[in-house]
Amino acid sequence: MCGIVGYVGHAGAGQTGPDSKAHTALDVILEGLRRLEYRGYDSAGIAVLADGRIDSRKKAGKLTNLEQELAADPLPSSQTGIGHTRWATHGGPTDRNAHPHVVDGGNLALIHNGIIENFAEHKAALVADGVEFLSETDTEVAAALLAKVYNDEAEGDLTRAMQLTSQRLEGAFTLLAIHKDHPDVVVASRRNSPLVVGLGDGENFLGSDVSGFIDFTRRAVELAQDQVVTITPDSFAITDFFGNPAEGKEFTVDWDAAAAEKDGYPSFMQKEIHDQPEAVLQTLLGRSDIDGRLTLDEMRIDPEELKKVDKIIVLACGTSAYAGHVAKYAIETWCRIPTEVELAHEFRYREPIITPTTLVVSLSQSGETMDTLMAVRYAKEQGARTMAICNTNGSTIPRESDAVLYTHAGPEIAVASTKAFLAQIVAAYLLGLYLAQLRGNKFQGEIKDILADLGKIPAKIQTVLDNAEQIQALAREMKDTQSVLFLGRHVGFPVALEGALKLKEIAYIHAEGFAAGELKHGPIALIEEGQVVFIVVPSPRGRDSLHSKVVSNIQEVRARGARTFVIAEEGDEAVKAYAEQVFYIPETQPLLAPLLTTVPLQLFAAELAAAKGYDVDQPRNLAKSVTVE
Ligand code: M6R
Repeated sequence: MCGIVGYVGHAGAGQTGPDSKAHTALDVILEGLRRLEYRGYDSAGIAVLADGRIDSRKKAGKLTNLEQELAADPLPSSQTGIGHTRWATHGGPTDRNAHPHVVDGGNLALIHNGIIENFAEHKAALVADGVEFLSETDTEVAAALLAKVYNDEAEGDLTRAMQLTSQRLEGAFTLLAIHKDHPDVVVASRRNSPLVVGLGDGENFLGSDVSGFIDFTRRAVELAQDQVVTITPDSFAITDFFGNPAEGKEFTVDWDAAAAEKDGYPSFMQKEIHDQPEAVLQTLLGRSDIDGRLTLDEMRIDPEELKKVDKIIVLACGTSAYAGHVAKYAIETWCRIPTEVELAHEFRYREPIITPTTLVVSLSQSGETMDTLMAVRYAKEQGARTMAICNTNGSTIPRESDAVLYTHAGPEIAVASTKAFLAQIVAAYLLGLYLAQLRGNKFQGEIKDILADLGKIPAKIQTVLDNAEQIQALAREMKDTQSVLFLGRHVGFPVALEGALKLKEIAYIHAEGFAAGELKHGPIALIEEGQVVFIVVPSPRGRDSLHSKVVSNIQEVRARGARTFVIAEEGDEAVKAYAEQVFYIPETQPLLAPLLTTVPLQLFAAELAAAKGYDVDQPRNLAKSVTVE
């Protein structure tokens, strides 16, 4: 939550860079905030340092409000500054609560992502000291504390002041500060909240993630937990909170600014839905040899240890948890290892049974979801081996895990996750097949066949996308619908949950997903004349197919007045008699079907939200990465 950008550069920096244009702090920060706005969009603000003075503008609402303010009342040209786009926690989304908070008579400006848990005690002490607060935020308290430490203890050393302040703060925070006496310095600190450094030529950057500076450089440095970093135009220096020097890990971002553009689609979500063939392809690439033997290079856990794994716990939240539910079916089928899927925020508040032979697999697009991060840390403390399936290079969860399997879906900007979901399923399937290969649960030929079928999925997703108009037309027709139910069985059940979540998130429609078998145990009471029900129907092929059972479920809801819309496999004629419309997907193995059946539901939600006139990419109350608990 909250997007953070920092910039410091020499005058003229950027002229030899990718955009060959001299950079100013304002241009760089605004561009970064545009890219990071998906993290929070309640308010935005910028502070710059010019001629020994800090000047700032901040405005409630989306970034465009700040841009209008800047047009009416420009900031001075500067080479040093910080910018913020907010997802409100302490204090409502008002101009006053927006960041930066400029304190100490205009000497210091600070922005923050996270929640400072002990802000009340610091505030009381600062008030007793005569400090007056203008906002309701915990951030202003951190700013005032930093100013006090700078003035009273740090002898004019801003880095030292940030180290001392960070030692005294509890909770989650990324802090960025500038001070009027340090014209070419931005100092930052992080605990339990994301921050990466971008390296330029005669300029350096800070961002909540690499999209904060991707227009200017692809060279980045990861920071570890509890670190302070000081950037100047020509240097960056990392320490811990006690001033001990530390090294950062440099990496190159493997996508460029163009990948974060809409490519002519009306929304990022639409574009990302259409990116899915590529996201799946990229996630599969380079993970197996010509004989179909999986070679997971990033797997840093000893194969001997993996052979001994007797339980897998999948930890995730939201859409990523639904990917975990899909993966459970495959992992248990292929590897015969009991697999539990648990919402990360529930996990550590019970007494989960974890042993050294438990493998904990976290799924997170951002790699920064606080609930998931805390659950992973808890699992590590309890002795589990941890593995991250993640889409964001340099993020915290993979860095703190024993092993990582990156999904290569490319940047996902829309708050509603789409391509990351499919890529997570694919990566979890690769893990399942890898374990089956190691442990000898499957013959190599069987693994090779499944991999070959996975390899055909991108083209099949493309076929679904080529037929998008059918479901999009239905979405437009249904724009005033009040309630939609989704039913599925087996791997179709988490797909139903995901279909419902998409609709809730971006179209604000009441939507629920159910296991179709559960209908008669309660949910069928919801069915009345005209109730819209989507049913994800399994393939009729195969001995153990649940097809006929799900067809009975369709009949049951239809008999009670439901309007039934069916997602079914090509050639399934049996469903036609019970459906107002059928949306066909290409044939595939039952376990791979979610990679196809999810797509029409994503298209439906995106089109319906757009037809209602909503902001598809930035739905109300949500942020892309939930970096607070
Ligand atoms: O970044 P993560 O995958 O850890 O995020 C988890 C959830 O917050 C996320 O999937 C959320 O549910 C999405 N908005 C769903 O579209």
